[in-house]
Amino acid sequence: MPERDELIGFQQRVLDALKGPLDKTPHFAEHGEWVDVRIDAYSGWADDFYDHGNWTAGFWAGMLLELEHLGAESQRDLAEAITRKLAARADDGGTHDLGFMFRPSACALFDETGSSEWRDIGLRSAAALAARFRPAGGYLQAFGTLDDPRSMGTSTVDTMMNLPLLLWAWKVTGDDRYRDIAVSHADATARDIVRPDGSTFHLITHDTAGAVSWAGTYQGAADASCWTRGQAWAIHGFVTMALETGEQRFADVAAKVLGYYVAHHDVTALPPYDLLADTGHVDASAGAIVLSGLAEALADPALATQLDAEVRIPMIRRALDEGALFADPVGLIGRSVYSLPHQLGVDGPLPYGDYYYLRALRLLSPETSIS
Ligand code: GLY
Repeated sequence: MPERDELIGFQQRVLDALKGPLDKTPHFAEHGEWVDVRIDAYSGWADDFYDHGNWTAGFWAGMLLELEHLGAESQRDLAEAITRKLAARADDGGTHDLGFMFRPSACALFDETGSSEWRDIGLRSAAALAARFRPAGGYLQAFGTLDDPRSMGTSTVDTMMNLPLLLWAWKVTGDDRYRDIAVSHADATARDIVRPDGSTFHLITHDTAGAVSWAGTYQGAADASCWTRGQAWAIHGFVTMALETGEQRFADVAAKVLGYYVAHHDVTALPPYDLLADTGHVDASAGAIVLSGLAEALADPALATQLDAEVRIPMIRRALDEGALFADPVGLIGRSVYSLPHQLGVDGPLPYGDYYYLRALRLLSPETSIS
């Protein structure tokens, strides 16, 4: 667990990373330096390459809010400024990443302030995500606009952690449609993306009738392998679905994918980049995501027991603290990888590794302040 002055030191790193006119935010890091992407960079196709755009800016707002809860000085104005810039993309019809962008930013700001400004941005983004629902197959389309044949029918394991945006909108509006879409997508993921042994595909495609037409990976080592961060998104996503809906079947899937995760590496060390391939790289961000999911599960004693959370949390936290904390000149949790096949952000920190680690610390801290 970092000391309070270490977190304050990290907050200074965040402020340094966000210096300037705030038209871009760091997306990943390489060779000890952040690589920035414009906040308003939409995802989309450039010839045959699908560019994910800036899907990470919201984590920077979220980090500032989490740091405040952990006892660092409030930087609420900066979190709000990032979210206002990001609001231009609340209606983005080309990506499933809306939950990553807006749940830690606009929705968190609404939860803290009750302001309609943040409620409206959060609900616009939830509506745009819900619009990606494909009734044939019962899943949310991951990439691209709904009418683009190049990415029509795509679904990824990552989408599980975009569902919290829909669950938030359900709670805020009382509109059960948001819940029903999240439940349908989670059921489709459990059926089509989680393999019988509890490992996961990263990316699948569907035909127009909703049947799975291909299953493999985009960021993992191989189509038949198990990309560790994808597994982590599944673990956290099913934990959140179990907690928010009370459905036991989601707790059972969470236990199954977590069981695979802990059985395929030594959890007292940093997780490998891929659970089924020896790439020589670790991905600490996956550990931070799992830590956040297990910390969240503590809210439900039965779920925490099913996941053996009390035993696993200290092991995973120690591995992160000893192996990745402040491992780079920038960021908080180093030794992560954005995408090995694309040779992007290899062996550096990632905004979401840092965000989910801070979120876990806040959930695990008895007074939500370590000061
Ligand atoms: N595409 C989401 C991730 O890199 O985890």
